[in-house]
Amino acid sequence: MRLQGFDGLARWYRAMEFLLAGSLLQRARMQYLEGMPLPRKILLLGEGPGRLLEALLLRFPTAQCTVVDASQKMIQVAQQRLKRRGISCDGITWLNQDVHEVRLAAHTYDLVTTPFFLDCFTETELQRLLPRIAASMRPEGHWWVTDFQIPEEGAWSRWRAQGIHRLMYAFFGAVTGLSATRWVNPDPILRELGMQCLGRSTFQAGLIRSDCWVWPRGPEGHQALSESNRSFK
Ligand SMILES: C[S@@+](CC[C@H](N)C(=O)[O-])C[C@H]1O[C@@H](n2cnc3c(N)ncnc32)[C@H](O)[C@@H]1O
Repeated sequence: MRLQGFDGLARWYRAMEFLLAGSLLQRARMQYLEGMPLPRKILLLGEGPGRLLEALLLRFPTAQCTVVDASQKMIQVAQQRLKRRGISCDGITWLNQDVHEVRLAAHTYDLVTTPFFLDCFTETELQRLLPRIAASMRPEGHWWVTDFQIPEEGAWSRWRAQGIHRLMYAFFGAVTGLSATRWVNPDPILRELGMQCLGRSTFQAGLIRSDCWVWPRGPEGHQALSESNRSFK
């Protein structure tokens, strides 16, 4: 996609989200926050206007966060958001770069988040990107993957999701120059990398899903996450 892609949307993004989905997307982004062991270093990819970043900083004020977003305007909106809330940006490294070009430190992050981000990419892009993200995680690190999806089951749910995806990809393609034209299920690539899905929750008849992936050596103490495979209206 063009690097300036989401700049034009940044200012309106939060209002758009509120009008179209209310609190649903934020619930999906934060699905694993409660059960998450204290992370020292967090990598937030395609963070956008900073709602998950804010929630993470409130819960883990000592965590060091690295935020990567290709949109300078999105980063500004996130920074203004934290400032308005009186949340310190001291522990945050902001990288206004394309994720395909950014250098990610190896074996560093206890938590990686990609909210509504992986669904921006084509299969070829994901095949290159996901191994790089995985390589940036510490052993036993968590990766929250939240995206719009096409559910596997239920004819009506699939049909509805396909219609919504068509509209969304047409809109984002026209406004941001997004190269992806359809959702690509990242599961096969993540599994091939050796990641394990500890938790999967779906929302809105399967239109949205929120996963917690972990390296297989994850400690037993994370059982709580695997119990959070749930569906929400
Ligand atoms: C669909 S928005 C999601 C924003 C936010 N994470 C959310 O949960 O609503 C995608 C975000 O990823 C960023 N983005 C898209 N492609 C990117 C790329 N190649 N490199 C870095 N950031 C990118 C956009 O600027 C935007 O902020």
